[in-house]
Amino acid sequence: MDTTKKWWQKEVIYQIHPASFKDSNNDGVGDLQGIISKLSYLHDLGITMIWLSPIYCSPMVDNDYDISDYQQINPRFGTMADFDALLAQAKALGIKVIMDLVINHTSDQHKWFQKAIQDPNSKYRDYYILRPGKDGHAPNNWRSNFGSGSAWSLLPGEKNLYYHHVFSPQQPDLNWENPELRQALYRMINWWLAKGLAGFRIDAITFIKKDQDFADITPDGKDGLGKVKRKAENRPGIAALLHELRVNTFDKYDAITVGEASGVPYEQLTQFIGPQGYFSMIFDFHYADVDIESGSEWFKRTHWTVSEFKQLLFRSQLAIQKVGWGANFLENHDQPRSVSKYIKDPKYQNQIGATALALLYFLLRGTPFIYQGQELGMVNAKRQTIAEFDDVSSHNNYARALAEGYSKTAALGFVNQRSRDNARTPFQWDNTVNAGFNEGHQPWLGLAQHCDQFNYANEKDDPYSTYQFY
Ligand code: NOJ
Repeated sequence: MDTTKKWWQKEVIYQIHPASFKDSNNDGVGDLQGIISKLSYLHDLGITMIWLSPIYCSPMVDNDYDISDYQQINPRFGTMADFDALLAQAKALGIKVIMDLVINHTSDQHKWFQKAIQDPNSKYRDYYILRPGKDGHAPNNWRSNFGSGSAWSLLPGEKNLYYHHVFSPQQPDLNWENPELRQALYRMINWWLAKGLAGFRIDAITFIKKDQDFADITPDGKDGLGKVKRKAENRPGIAALLHELRVNTFDKYDAITVGEASGVPYEQLTQFIGPQGYFSMIFDFHYADVDIESGSEWFKRTHWTVSEFKQLLFRSQLAIQKVGWGANFLENHDQPRSVSKYIKDPKYQNQIGATALALLYFLLRGTPFIYQGQELGMVNAKRQTIAEFDDVSSHNNYARALAEGYSKTAALGFVNQRSRDNARTPFQWDNTVNAGFNEGHQPWLGLAQHCDQFNYANEKDDPYSTYQFY
């Protein structure tokens, strides 16, 4: 591989899930002013870059991964002036900012989709993937990624015209076959880069190319459907799209790009992260999904061993080292807390286990990504009923486990272990009300049970704490 270091190989990246970091106005939702108020905390921790999970306008069906306006800030999080202040104040501390770029799909509330619904002759109909149904059913038997049934829904107002969604029905997929749509996305991306972003983490990017035959597949579940990824994840033809994306946007700004690129086999890594690759680095999920058979079906649990985990991790490292640079992570907003997931012995599901994991991954080659709260050794929450979950895929996974014949208790168990809400509980700052997340208003998602044990106030002066280790 090319041995000259790129500027972004020296970064330590910290992921913020804005709704859960710090709520400055006590409305129950974390916000940009909250992040600004904690910049010195991040600076002291030693990070050099913030990755902000989405803060765009959104009806929040999927925690802002359903965007209704790419160039406006969601009022729940603040204003564009707040964002500009964050960028400037972070810069003053030597901290760069990257944002989440969600361009596989929009929200169904995006004006493009709304115009497509309202006017059959609108050019926006071709911004999305519309197909007539077959015999009164969806165009094919693809199952959406969140386990929420078909990857097709009827276009409102139509009797036999469906739109495609890899994720929830409120997240219609964009039609990347349309050059005008692609140019509109590039303009938006360049607008953000010109504002001073250092780059992007790029959401679900291997899903932008669908097999254009839109053919049925052999079912792989009792619902008669087959996983959409078999026809829409890293499919032939994606190379041209990813190359075009890069040269029209990121290259012009020497931006850092971190692809959420599931479904890339190691043999194809050069194309993705080699010297001429589409991205600076990509996340490799092969080892992160050691506990389940596939990232999207939580009831299919494996009986993994530590030695298997080690093999997967080494395999990943060796494959990446050959061609490029890695994006190392233990946690993110989609994963359970790493102490609860990777440490099997409950005796060590604490600061000892969290510190051991930290040691393990800081010594890997690549850029470390720290997910908020990981530096405190935050652990999974335990919820008694499905109603306590917010996450759309937790609800769908629960329903799907029931449909596959599991009991309610078992289904709840799978969801508790794997739910994305494990990572999304409010950050644990101290021992005051709501662990210091805000001043008492009920947070949008309940706190994890161990907040009075694992929190910044308790750990900051303890030489043996996970925080001190980080
Ligand atoms: C991957 C993101 O990490 C996840 O949170 C989101 O739900 C899906 N992509 C859809 O955007």
